[in-house]
Amino acid sequence: MQALAVFPSQKRVDLLDIAEPQPKGATEVLLRLREVGLCGTDREIASFEYGDPPSGSDHLILGHESLAEVVEVGREVHGLKPGDLVVAMVRRPCPHPECRACRAGRPDFCLTGDYTERGIKGADGFLTDYVADDEAFLVKVPHALSDVAVLVEPLTVVTKAADQAHAIFNRLPYDPGPQRGLVLGAGPIGLLGAMLLVADGFETIVYSRDSEESTQAKLVRSLGAQYVPSTANPIESLAEGWGEFDVVLEAVGFAPLMMAASQTLRANGLLALTGVPHEAAAVELNGRTLRDLVLGNRVVFGTVNAGRRDHLSAIQHLEQFMVLFPESVRQLITYRVPLDEAPQMLMQKRGIKNVVEMRRAA
Ligand code: BGC
Repeated sequence: MQALAVFPSQKRVDLLDIAEPQPKGATEVLLRLREVGLCGTDREIASFEYGDPPSGSDHLILGHESLAEVVEVGREVHGLKPGDLVVAMVRRPCPHPECRACRAGRPDFCLTGDYTERGIKGADGFLTDYVADDEAFLVKVPHALSDVAVLVEPLTVVTKAADQAHAIFNRLPYDPGPQRGLVLGAGPIGLLGAMLLVADGFETIVYSRDSEESTQAKLVRSLGAQYVPSTANPIESLAEGWGEFDVVLEAVGFAPLMMAASQTLRANGLLALTGVPHEAAAVELNGRTLRDLVLGNRVVFGTVNAGRRDHLSAIQHLEQFMVLFPESVRQLITYRVPLDEAPQMLMQKRGIKNVVEMRRAA
């Protein structure tokens, strides 16, 4: 069977032939991939800026946004059976006994940094026909979601941010009442974030560089949210024109914007950063920004990856989105291509979410 891999030392992205996995472990599951989503992280790995092959290997099989069908289960797999649809969790625990996060089953909060991530860091991904995985890392998804379930993994980034946001808001000694949310960026994470805010009753604005006539802007309006193009509205003065926000979800990864975003926060508000900026990006932080954080009890936090509870929350939210705005959810997936067109798709992104279609239902 074929797989799509990146060979960092040769600066090459290529299809290669690999053997089908032969799972033998009692808790192992053989999966047939249906779809794999591509994202900015994959593009960075394919540009040799990020990612690591498994130790001892010269290549990394790409793909971490999976949707797969269970083909075979080991004798101690109790929660899954052949025919079930699953999404695999990306991050796997580090080996260190002292890492309380990994030992508690939450490698998304790993303390050592020695975790692996399938398709990203130290472990092969899902851009192939069959993979084996342990039941512990698989999350079952209802068949009713099959045409959009490849969005579960990116949505977990948002549901983890929301889970932490709730914990932070719980510190408030009063009922916050109606809240306003701002999303920075109209890529898949931003748009899924906007859906979640709208579904949670927030008055929602999405701010991005796409034009007001773009598909992204239309999609935002179809949710009942407002779209504000960044070209005509500098972030520093956004709050003057559009008011302040209780929650800001950043999904751009552009360092100057990330830094300036806290200026749009209302007192006691929070800014969740999900974009991963370039290491070399230099930004200026002025005393005013820090002063406003302190004098307004504002919270800025980073969030990455997700745990099982965030996956379950993502599945529930996706079900809710499919009731509230099914067409808008489907429109997030702009292109589906076969594996041999994936390298080209990685080089030139088109539309919103690009998905590699491995196989239709058997
Ligand atoms: C993935 C996460 C991962 C992160 C950092 C994102 O694209 O969705 O699962 O933790 O990249 O590698």
